[in-house]
Amino acid sequence: MPAEHRPAWQRLLAAVTLIAGLGVLAVALFIWSGVYPVGADREHLGITTWLLTQVRERSVATYSSTVEVRPVHDPDMARLGAAHFEGGCVPCHARPGEPVNAIVSGMLPPPPDLAAALAKREALEEIFWIVMNGLKYTGMPAWPSQLRNDEVWAVTAFLDRLRETGPAGMNAYPSMAGIDRLENPPPGGRPAAEARQPLTECRRCHDDSGLPTLSALVPNLAGQSETYLRRALHEYFGRRRPSGIMQPVAGALSSAGMERLAAYYAALPPPPAAAVDAKAQERLRGQDLARRGDPDRDVPPCLACHGDGRAPSFPSLAGQHASYLLSQLELWQRGGRASTAHGRIMASVARRLTARQMRDAAAFFSSEERQPLGGRATAAGGQP
Ligand code: HEC
Ligand code: HEC
Ligand code: HEC
Repeated sequence: MPAEHRPAWQRLLAAVTLIAGLGVLAVALFIWSGVYPVGADREHLGITTWLLTQVRERSVATYSSTVEVRPVHDPDMARLGAAHFEGGCVPCHARPGEPVNAIVSGMLPPPPDLAAALAKREALEEIFWIVMNGLKYTGMPAWPSQLRNDEVWAVTAFLDRLRETGPAGMNAYPSMAGIDRLENPPPGGRPAAEARQPLTECRRCHDDSGLPTLSALVPNLAGQSETYLRRALHEYFGRRRPSGIMQPVAGALSSAGMERLAAYYAALPPPPAAAVDAKAQERLRGQDLARRGDPDRDVPPCLACHGDGRAPSFPSLAGQHASYLLSQLELWQRGGRASTAHGRIMASVARRLTARQMRDAAAFFSSEERQPLGGRATAAGGQP
């Protein structure tokens, strides 16, 4: 049938198909020709920037809408978040109020001044979501450990503070991030040469002789057995123990550095126990659980594995911060920290505990004196 005798709809269809085919061909030619400049030295076209921004903002809004917001007004969370920010985010975003370095400013898009960017972001869940998931095609990385989100909430708590005060209100940043704790190094010098980079300055976060931890969410290391500390560092290094904060730190250490650091912290005098406060009831219930367990729920006594006669590769809980102990028990209950042999032993215990029992145990152990294994840990010669 000649074309002029075809029905109108058929002619229209043929025209549309032809135009669409030419369009695809033009796009294919454009891509093949390589004329679009992908160099980061030149800005995108205005239309491209607009399009990318719309896609990013719509996507962040959609995916963050299911995030359950946690309370973030907790100074321990904000300090831990600031300390991680210093090691993990400052290389790109710079410290609050300072310009980004010249290399990073050549990125496209460049890492934004966060105080200014966050002032425009009202929803806390969006900030959390970006830090947890990162942003494709921008260089903004996803959180190193996707198995837990409590650490990301700590960073969000810090960003929330930054958003509220702006960089001008960030005079407290050096003390929040633990930078001013580096001014008086411990007697006998720093623990190991490896621990002198912003990322791996252990002393910014952890305890040292006469120095408490930066935050109650950071564990006390002093007087913990050398075998346990060495194992923990190797597990972070091998990304078997989940932590977006400690994995990058351990990842920057050598084996010899880990040996030296484990020996250094094991030899420090144990931290003082928390004062016994008004939570006496909690503490007494915790003591009972630690000594007798809970036969009804098939929970063994904690002290069977964490007491003075414990295996050198098992941690002491005495003198540990209640908040840290609780954060680890909650992590096990959500299924984290169970990808190592030791982690699985504890997972089977943690799963059976009630929320109240976890709080009780944390209150009890934090107010106990830590007894170092002393000779035993060293005599065991690092048997895992
Ligand atoms: C390798 C460099 C790099 C590192 C490291 C990095 N970021 Fe980013 N970040 C970026 C870039 C680039 C963007 C801009 C993305 C854009 O404009 O679409 C960004 C964007 C963001 C945003 C979104 C700002 C907004 O509202 O538009 C937040 C929040 C953020 N980063 C937080 C962090 C935190 C917290 C860390 C540390 C845990 C971190 N970033 C580490 C490069 C980095
Ligand atoms: C930015 C803060 C920060 C820095 C810096 C830091 N840590 Fe940690 N560290 C933490 C936090 C938070 C945890 C708890 C992580 C978890 O939940 O598994 C931790 C856990 C640990 C543990 C496991 C303790 C336990 O009871 O299970 C060891 C060992 C450790 N850190 C050693 C080090 C050493 C050695 C350095 C220096 C090379 C260092 N850390 C630097 C914050 C930090
Ligand atoms: C059968 C032995 C066993 C019993 C019983 C046990 N634990 Fe554990 N627990 C472990 C092991 C092993 C680890 C080390 C896990 C790892 O390294 O990942 C551990 C680790 C922990 C940690 C993390 C400490 C740190 O520094 O990160 C907490 C908190 C804890 N246990 C609490 C308890 C409580 C509370 C009880 C009693 C209700 C209990 N445990 C009973 C074996 C046990």
